[in-house]
Amino acid sequence: LKKEPLKVMISGAPASGKGTQCELIVQKFGLVHISTGDILRAEVSSGTDIGNKAKEFMNSGRLVPDAIVTAMVTARLSRQDAKEKGWLLDGYPRSFAQAQSLEELNISPDIYIVLDVPDEILIDRCVGRRLDPVRGKIYHLKNFPPDSDEIKARLVTRADDTEEKVKARLEIYKQNAAAISSTYTSITNKIDGNRPKEIVFKDIDSLLTQLQKDKTAKSVKP
Ligand code: AP5
Repeated sequence: LKKEPLKVMISGAPASGKGTQCELIVQKFGLVHISTGDILRAEVSSGTDIGNKAKEFMNSGRLVPDAIVTAMVTARLSRQDAKEKGWLLDGYPRSFAQAQSLEELNISPDIYIVLDVPDEILIDRCVGRRLDPVRGKIYHLKNFPPDSDEIKARLVTRADDTEEKVKARLEIYKQNAAAISSTYTSITNKIDGNRPKEIVFKDIDSLLTQLQKDKTAKSVKP
């Protein structure tokens, strides 16, 4: 049986674990991971036009203007690999206007996963987060420290991971969350993200495995 490509959206507050779960989802399901945060950070560090425009918004914890991000996402979604392997959209849509843009282009996910984590835990996760710029892997000083000194020595902190900026990002997330999720009510799956990452992944894994079966069965029906 030919597997039908899955179309997955993952959402949740800053540091709810989207990037961490996406690493695990990609490993198992081979979807094309499209993270607007990762793409924007790469643009900033290469000093592109987009990066230069996005930088001040990102560093202060505000959203980058819709037009910039939407153009980026739709270009990436239309590439062949995303069509063939399926996609995993992380960090988009982040406003009602962004959700509308996808609807207008007839781009709808099969499932909308929301990671639910209490505020006080989110702040600790951001402040302790470190990134490995070489492999792009996400660590946490307490929860997931790297196991080699070589990696430890090269870890970097995100400019928007101070307590003050996390609070601003969380506020913006809360202002937008209800309007965005109203677009995806019928396919929303809320998951308790305040558990060990392997346990959170178990829930996501069973949802996606079932979805994969359902899609494949549907596609072979006459
Ligand atoms: P983005 O990079 O998307 O940031 P975010 O949504 O704030 O999400 P994070 O990357 O902070 O967290 P995450 O949920 O991926 O958590 P992670 O797995 O790292 O966006 C950054 C900025 O870009 C925005 O502020 C905005 O300016 C701009 N931008 C992006 N998209 C945009 C858009 N669509 N429109 C406009 N602007 C946009 O985990 C966090 C920490 O917790 C890590 O240290 C991790 O190790 C740890 N952790 C993870 N899971 C667990 C667990 N289960 N238990 C314990 N610790 C855990």
